[in-house]
Amino acid sequence: MASSTAQSTLPAHHPLVTGRTAESPLLNQYRGSRDSAGTPAAPHRRPVWFMRQAGRSLPEYRRLREGTSMLDACLDPEMASEITMQPVRRHDVDAAIFFSDIVIPLRLAGIDVEIVPNVGPVLGTPVRSRVGVEALPVLDDDAFAPITEAVGRTVEQLGATPLIGFAGAPFTLAAYMVEGRPSRDHLGPRTMMHADPDTWHALASWAADVSGRFMRAQLEAGASAAQLFDSWAGSLGRTDYAAHVQEHSAAALSHVSGLGAPLVHFGTGTGEILDLMREAGADVIGIDYRVQLDEATRRLGPQTPLQGNIDPALLDADWPVLEEHVRQVITSGSEAAGHVLNLGHGVPPTANPEVLTRVVELIHSVEPSTPSAGA
Ligand code: CP3
Repeated sequence: MASSTAQSTLPAHHPLVTGRTAESPLLNQYRGSRDSAGTPAAPHRRPVWFMRQAGRSLPEYRRLREGTSMLDACLDPEMASEITMQPVRRHDVDAAIFFSDIVIPLRLAGIDVEIVPNVGPVLGTPVRSRVGVEALPVLDDDAFAPITEAVGRTVEQLGATPLIGFAGAPFTLAAYMVEGRPSRDHLGPRTMMHADPDTWHALASWAADVSGRFMRAQLEAGASAAQLFDSWAGSLGRTDYAAHVQEHSAAALSHVSGLGAPLVHFGTGTGEILDLMREAGADVIGIDYRVQLDEATRRLGPQTPLQGNIDPALLDADWPVLEEHVRQVITSGSEAAGHVLNLGHGVPPTANPEVLTRVVELIHSVEPSTPSAGA
């Protein structure tokens, strides 16, 4: 965690500097603040937010987005800000996540990238060679203007509720750049790191730089925390992650360390590399639905605050089944220094938003009690 003096590099009106978000349940848990007895300080309510809480599960989102492409919506400050606010108003979640996308830095750098509905990010020219990497454009800081404007507008409306900024981790971003489109096994980038390691490192360095600066732009403009998404890191073994990826994720995170904002690192299928993801420089580890939180605490130690990990598949189950699962996640997370409830991956577009609101009510209704002694 960054020292508090480093906050002076954020502007004086920043919510972390004025203290507006400092006492929020979210930051309290992200900081894992233990009292003198070693137990986490109880927040006044248990914090919860959902990855992809903004988006297609919400009818108000679908209406607003009609006729506007995904990336154009991200770069329209008024629209991006309104979409960010929609789930906060509707669900009473404890954080907003900035509405944007991991490929926005590519678009801002002038790369031909679109998000194709029901497919995902597609690049006009995949980056597969040294020449391709050397031809990558330089991303100008001024290009972040629509992002900082959207963040500024959002933070004004949020009051004491923190905004979370984010970026794609270098491996996940580079996977799209090499494949040129979503893929299941990410063979392209995994081959490149062995067949042509210099090109891989140059590409991952470029991705770390643009993602790190994207997060920094959001934090400087008013976000109180940031999350690095390494959604596809689960396709890597430990050895490959350690040798070819970890240093680049660390480089991305280094752009935002020392600001006093908690940093969350999340991936899916990453049970085998949780410790390496923390070592990359994160304060909080996001856990997908495959690893139980008490097991994650065994792997990471009790000092690491966790985020997660309600299984999105259960949103469609009968309420008693879902309720039991949510209660188990709460119990399972109580051994960690801090716990922020979330899903184990994003809200499915087919999710019923009323169920999400009910899950938030349930989580807020469970007393934030002190976990058992010795936890
Ligand atoms: O609410 C939030 O979580 C904030 C917004 C957010 C989006 N993308 C909006 C979005 C965030 C944090 C992301 C990150 C992102 N984008 C990741 C990492 C998180 C994850 O889900 O693993 C990845 C891998 C991407 C790339 C991407 N963008 C994909 C795979 C898709 C889905 C394509 C599809 O149509 O199924 C997108 C598009 C996207 N990003 C949508 C949203 C709301 C859907 C676009 C739409 O509304 O039509």
